Amino acid sequence: MKRKEHPVDDPRGRLTKDGIRIHEPSEFEGMHRAGRLAAEILDEVGDLVAPGATTEALDDFIRGRVEAAGARSATIGYRGYQHASCISVNHVVCHGIPGPKTLKDGDVLNIDVTVIVDGWFGDTSRMYVAGTLSRKAQRLIEVTHDSLMRGIEAVRPGNTFGDIGHAIQSYVEAQRMSVVRDFCGHGLGRVFHAPPNVLHYGRPGTGPRLEEGMFFTIEPMVNLGRPETKVLADDWTAVTRDKSLSAQFEHSIGVTRDGCEIFTLSPAGRFHPSM
Ligand code: MF3
Ligand code: CO
Ligand code: CO
Repeated sequence: MKRKEHPVDDPRGRLTKDGIRIHEPSEFEGMHRAGRLAAEILDEVGDLVAPGATTEALDDFIRGRVEAAGARSATIGYRGYQHASCISVNHVVCHGIPGPKTLKDGDVLNIDVTVIVDGWFGDTSRMYVAGTLSRKAQRLIEVTHDSLMRGIEAVRPGNTFGDIGHAIQSYVEAQRMSVVRDFCGHGLGRVFHAPPNVLHYGRPGTGPRLEEGMFFTIEPMVNLGRPETKVLADDWTAVTRDKSLSAQFEHSIGVTRDGCEIFTLSPAGRFHPSM
């Protein structure tokens, strides 16, 4: 999401002084169900990714699959957005709009799906390749995925959001790639986007302290070139300014007593394209 002010949150439950909602242990179950559906859809849509496919066709599949599950798409109607997914190809960083353009051999793409199941939001994205994966795209995708998992490993009560950002940034920059600053992860639960902004860069020990019951996404965007982005005239599509290749992975997670649970794990074990 774009860094911005957050809408008014659900009025129930406890908020920290930073406005972050603390959920009850019983509320993890709803997030698991929403996260699982989003992840299943990402598993299934992978079979349709191939040279010649349009991103519109992938989105149509996702929309139909959400409806068939009796769930709702969180993105249709969100700030005027009209689609059940964002599909971001090659140098598109995020919020790519599905359309009639066909994928070419070697294109890499992120598909980002958010569903609402019984009022709970499940938000996840991962990378796919149409046809043959080039060595440099493969490296970018591996580093981006590992950066997400390193961020997740930093999630436990007592650590801070800065520890998550630092884990991601220090790893990515050591690989001579860059972390996008213009978009961040976010709290979620019964709402799509809630405090805090989950930055994918930062200094250890800074930012709000993590507490059991916080639900949020981590969704690092990593570029082969420079970190700067710009948004195209459609007001959604964010691209790298230098046209370098960009990748992203996103999980929705919940903080537990001694770590976290990932709500959006792939039931088929296919979260990563080389899985
Ligand atoms: N799923 C995106 C996120 O990770 C948000 C997409 S909003 C849309 O926060 F309107 F562009 F779909
Ligand atoms: Co998100
Ligand atoms: Co998302």
